[in-house]
Amino acid sequence: MRGRSFLTLKDFTPSEIRLMLDTAHELKRQKKNGQAHRLHEGKQVALLFEKTSTRTRCAFTVAANDLGVAPEFLGKDDIQLGKKESVEDTAKVLGRMFDGIEFRGFKHSTVEGLAEFANVPVWNGLTDTFHPTQILADFMTIEEHVGKLKGAKLVFVGDGRNNMANSLLIGSAKMGVDFRILAPRELHPVGEILETARAIAAETGAKIMVTDNHGEALAGADAIYTDVWASMGEEDQFAERIALLKPYQVNRAMLEQTRNLNVKFLHCLPSFHDTNTTIGQQIHDQYGLDCMEVTDEVFRSKHSVVFDEAENRMHTIKAVMALTL
Ligand code: CP
Ligand code: NVA
Repeated sequence: MRGRSFLTLKDFTPSEIRLMLDTAHELKRQKKNGQAHRLHEGKQVALLFEKTSTRTRCAFTVAANDLGVAPEFLGKDDIQLGKKESVEDTAKVLGRMFDGIEFRGFKHSTVEGLAEFANVPVWNGLTDTFHPTQILADFMTIEEHVGKLKGAKLVFVGDGRNNMANSLLIGSAKMGVDFRILAPRELHPVGEILETARAIAAETGAKIMVTDNHGEALAGADAIYTDVWASMGEEDQFAERIALLKPYQVNRAMLEQTRNLNVKFLHCLPSFHDTNTTIGQQIHDQYGLDCMEVTDEVFRSKHSVVFDEAENRMHTIKAVMALTL
C-alpha cells in the first residue's frame, strides 16, 4: 500500500482493509506493551483542517509521533488554500515538502484534488461525503467487543445520508457485515453510494438493509451506532432534523428492542447526550430536549464502547500511515 492515498474504502479490497485492521491491532498491542514502533523515523506530514476536530487531529498527531514522524497542523486560517491558492497548487507545494498530507474539510473534491496533485499519500480525515478512518476504528472496536466483523449485525440509526452512513455502507459491504440503516424515509440513502454498496455486497456476502421499521432493523443487533442529527456545516438544520429523528433516538427502549443483553453502543463522537455543551444547551432552551441522538443513560451504560472507539482512532490512523508512507 506504500504511496497510496486513503480517500474512501471503495478504493481498497477486503484483504487490504483486513491488513489495515490487523496492523492496527498489532500496533495497539505494541503500544500497550511499551514497545516502540518508529517505522518512519525522520518523515514529516501536514495535517490540514478546514473543519474543527478533537479525535482526528489528536489521533494523527499522536500516531505520527509514535511512528517517528513529525506532524505539522495547518488550520483553516493558517495557509493560503482556497482564498489565494488553488487546491492543485497547494497540493504541489505541500507534496514537495511533506511525505504525506491529511485533509479534513467540506467538499470531497478537495481531498481528491490534493491526492491527484500532491505526489505523496493523502488521507481523508472527513469530508461532507466520507469519513473512512472512522470506519476502521469502528470495525476494530466491533472486533474487540463483538468478537467478529463478518456477519456482525450493525445498525446505524439517524441521518442515513451523512458521511458516517455513507462510509459505513461502503465499509460494511466490503467486510461482509450485516448492515442496517434505520432512518426516516426522508433521510434514507439514495443513489450512487447505496448502489455501489449493494454491488460490493453481492460479491462479499454482506447484507444491506435500509428501513424505517425499528423492529426489522433492530432484531438481534450486535451493535447500534448513531451520530449527530446535523453534521458540521448543517447546524441550521437542527429544527427539521429534530422533528424527523426524535423517534430514532438511541435510548434504553431501543436497546431492549434488540433482545440482545450484550448489545454494544457506538458513536463516532462528539455527541449531544447531555446539555454540557453550548449547542446542547441551546437545543434544550429552544426545544426542551436534554439530549438528542442518544440518552445520557445509554451513553454512560455498560453497553457503550464509545471511548474505546475514540482511542482506536489513533491505532487505526497509525496503521494507515504506517502502511502508506
Ligand atoms: N469522530 C471524529 O472524527 O471526531 P473529531 O471531529 O473530534 O475529529
Ligand atoms: N457526521 C458528523 C461526523 C463527525 C465525526 C459530521 O460530519 O459532523
